[in-house]
Amino acid sequence: MLIDSFGRTIDYLRLAVTDKCNLRCRYCMPEEGIDFSKNEDLLSLSEIARLAEVFGVLGINKVRLTGGEPFMRKDILQVLEVLSLHFKNINLTTNATLIQPYMHQLKQYNISSFNISIDSLHREKFFAITKRDQFETVYNTIWELYNMGFRVKLNVVVMKGINETEIAEFCLLAKNHKVDVRFIEAMPFNAHDGNESQFLSLTEIEEHIINTFPSLQKVDSPRKSSSIKYSIDGFVGNIGIIPAYSRSLCGMCNRIRLTPEGQLLTCLYADQGINLRDLIRDGFTNEQLIAAIKGEVMQKAKDGFVAESNRVSDSSVFQSMTTIGG
Ligand code: 5AD
Ligand code: SF4
Repeated sequence: MLIDSFGRTIDYLRLAVTDKCNLRCRYCMPEEGIDFSKNEDLLSLSEIARLAEVFGVLGINKVRLTGGEPFMRKDILQVLEVLSLHFKNINLTTNATLIQPYMHQLKQYNISSFNISIDSLHREKFFAITKRDQFETVYNTIWELYNMGFRVKLNVVVMKGINETEIAEFCLLAKNHKVDVRFIEAMPFNAHDGNESQFLSLTEIEEHIINTFPSLQKVDSPRKSSSIKYSIDGFVGNIGIIPAYSRSLCGMCNRIRLTPEGQLLTCLYADQGINLRDLIRDGFTNEQLIAAIKGEVMQKAKDGFVAESNRVSDSSVFQSMTTIGG
């Protein structure tokens, strides 16, 4: 078992399998001049297999693949296969643009849910936000996965003056479909070309929804959830808000992260952490890896504010989500 110094059990691993992405979401990646990792610096398939074994022994039971875009990895099905050997609860965060060729194979793995990023329901605006004309593929893939029986959550990063006018329209997707529509507070990464005035807080997002749907009501969410959950009368799906910036859910945190290059981060806001890829390449045994991981987890900060204040790099400038794994 992995337990931190605050007695929290860590049983959820977010694994960023690549930093590459085929979209250029304005809050995430600049359009040009991105320094992607070299392939040999990424965790290899066999290193992922090794780590799956080790984290399985350590009691991790939920894994989320993130990126970048996980389907940018050519060996994504093999990655899913090795993870399925050790974990029953595998989840993916994806932009859903590259899944089509794999559709018929997805049921072979222990995939519990897909979190799909979609920030606009209109083709031109989707293009303006992501710089790629992929709206239709994303939208159709969402409903195909839903109809295949996968649990689907939609992630919407809310930006004032850009897509906040679509909040009600997004909510309506949960009226007749059992999907979760989750609005995310935008985090100020250095790649994001917006500014502070675009930021909408949890409370502001809540107010927006209530304006159209006065029956919005908080419902109990699972204790370790990263979102605050709501229901709307007559809706079969749920609404959620992820306080990524205001960090009100840190107290129950049960997660750790691995970057595409194998760095173990104990918080979204942390920038310090041992590199497990290096330890594997240095010949560490499983026992040595386990000891190193346990030691690192003991360093996990109480919350995202403490983690942010412990940063050695400029605390106000974050790497993109693509290097820390969503
Ligand atoms: N703020 C909030 N969410 C972000 N994501 C990426 N960058 C940011 C940011 N700056 C989200 C995407 C996607 C996941 C990979 O992370 O919307 O759902
Ligand atoms: Fe790609 Fe996701 Fe970043 Fe958009 S937010 S550029 S889909 S990694």
